[in-house]
Amino acid sequence: MGMQISPSILSADFANLQAEVARISTADWVHVDVMDGHFVPNLTLGLPVVERIAQVAPMPVDAHLMIENPDHWAPRYAEAGAASVTFHYEAASNPLAIAQDLRALGARASVALKPGTPVDAVIDDLKHFDMVLVMTVEPGFGGQAFMPDMLPKVSALRDAARAADLDLWIQTDGGIARDTIEQTAAAGCDVFVAGSAVYGAADPAAEVDALRHLAASASAHPYE
Ligand code: DX5
Ligand code: ZN
Repeated sequence: MGMQISPSILSADFANLQAEVARISTADWVHVDVMDGHFVPNLTLGLPVVERIAQVAPMPVDAHLMIENPDHWAPRYAEAGAASVTFHYEAASNPLAIAQDLRALGARASVALKPGTPVDAVIDDLKHFDMVLVMTVEPGFGGQAFMPDMLPKVSALRDAARAADLDLWIQTDGGIARDTIEQTAAAGCDVFVAGSAVYGAADPAAEVDALRHLAASASAHPYE
C-alpha cells in the first residue's frame, strides 16, 4: 500500500469544512477527530458532521473516536460512511466485538492506544484489526509535541505483524511533521496523521506530498 497521509481537520477551519477538505486533495484519507468531552477533555463533532464529510470528501474518512462507549458508537460511524473507524482500547468493553461489528459493516477496524497503554493490550489479537493507532501525544488537542518514546511500540507492533504475516497498518497521530515523520516511518509506521503540520502549511496539498515522500524514503531504511 505504501506510505499514507491522513491530515487531521482538527487544525482546519470548522466553519468551512468542505473547502478545507478540498485543500488536501493529495491526501490518502481525511482524519476526523471525534471527541466527547468525557474520554478526552475536549469536544469536537459527532455523527451528523462525519456523515456530511463522508458525502462531500473526495477521499475516504478515517474517523478517530476519542469517546466513551465505543461498543455502541463505533459501528454508527461505519454506518455514517467512515471507511476506517478507530476506537480507543481504553474506552472499550469488548474490543474484539467492536472490530467484528466494524468489519461486518464494511469498514476497516482500528484500535488506538494512548501513550500509557502498552502494546500487550492488543498484540495477541492483531488479526482482528486492520490498523493499530499508536498515539504519539496524549489525545485531546492538536499542536502538541511528538513523544519519541512511543516508537518502540510501533516497532513491536510491526515485528509482531510481520511474524504473523498480517497486512496490518500501523498509524501514528500527534506531532507528526517533517522533523518527526522519518524516524516514525523507519520504526514501521505506514499511516501518518498530521494536523497542524498540514493545515499550518501555505500549501496543504503540497505538504501532504512532502510528508509522504519523506516517509517513503525513510521506510526504505527500516529500523532493523
Ligand atoms: C489529537 C488528535 C490528532 C490531532 C493531531 O488528540 O487525535 O489527530 O489533530 O494534531 P497534530 O498533528 O497537530 O499533533
Ligand atoms: Zn486523531
